[in-house]
Amino acid sequence: MNPISLEGKVAVVTGGAGGIGRGIAESFGQLGARVIVADSNAESVSRLNEESSAQGWSIEAVECDVTKTEPVRALMERVQSREKRLDILVNNVGDTLRLYKPFEEMTDENIDDLFGILLRHVMVCTREAIPLIKGSGDGGSIISISSIEGYRGLPNIVPYAAFKLGIEGFTKSLALELGPFGIRVNSIAPETTESESIRPSRWISPENEARIPHWIPLGRFGRPSDTAGCAVFLASSLSAWVTGTTLHCDGGSLAAAGWYRLDDNRWTNTPIIEGSGI
Ligand SMILES: NC(=O)c1ccc[n+]([C@@H]2O[C@H](COP(=O)([O-])OP(=O)(O)OC[C@H]3O[C@@H](n4cnc5c(N)ncnc54)[C@H](O)[C@@H]3O)[C@@H](O)[C@H]2O)c1
Repeated sequence: MNPISLEGKVAVVTGGAGGIGRGIAESFGQLGARVIVADSNAESVSRLNEESSAQGWSIEAVECDVTKTEPVRALMERVQSREKRLDILVNNVGDTLRLYKPFEEMTDENIDDLFGILLRHVMVCTREAIPLIKGSGDGGSIISISSIEGYRGLPNIVPYAAFKLGIEGFTKSLALELGPFGIRVNSIAPETTESESIRPSRWISPENEARIPHWIPLGRFGRPSDTAGCAVFLASSLSAWVTGTTLHCDGGSLAAAGWYRLDDNRWTNTPIIEGSGI
């Protein structure tokens, strides 16, 4: 059997009606999975369902706010009653909620809201999905989307970085618990990736585009298909012996860690050199 094939598998992708999640949902669908997308944006949900039936994709989008426990329970009950199994869960939802401010100004509510949208739902969705995945009796794969920002300092929205790194602790510990059931638990940490809410193509003016290869070793920002490629690897039997780890889908940014490539291919960690292009 083709090790990339997802034929016969059922996947849930949270936040899969837009951005990176949609890229993951489409890739899984192309590889034969039945994909249930849980997304809170009603407009994106109906758009995806229209496109899915027009294209004949095996993707069904359901309106669901994953930060609330009851809708998540209802989602999993629906998956159980209609699909009778669950093999793959992708916890993709995450947002800054535009709460950019110095940490000393973060209110209790800000911290709770960021916890809810970044880490709490990863735990709730996973907890509610585990009985279904175990019940399918064929192993399984749980994938959570964290961020490069969990692996480097992120000023002015400190809880984002903290909760994203929390996904790594969750991933490692749960991987140990679920190993005996053949259920693998991993995460993906992307660098800035073109999506619904993150738009480097609009933020960087044409005259500054030539600078991008100085910032990112592989020379460009991410695309949803980059993260989707990692998700396909982690969902399929290609990664049959991979659990408790994080794939850094970041064009080499984490490795560069503050080093910038100069026009003449030398590197600097003090990007103030006149005419360096940085
Ligand atoms: N795009 C990036 O540069 C980048 C980089 C690193 C990590 N990430 C992470 O990748 C994931 C996806 O990011 P993105 O940029 O594609 O996001 P996005 O904002 O473009 O899309 C998010 C999707 O999730 C849905 N959604 C939002 N809140 C929801 C909720 N409560 N319940 C259900 N659905 C909800 C939205 O409707 C949308 O369809 C997030 O966890 C994000 O933190 C993104």
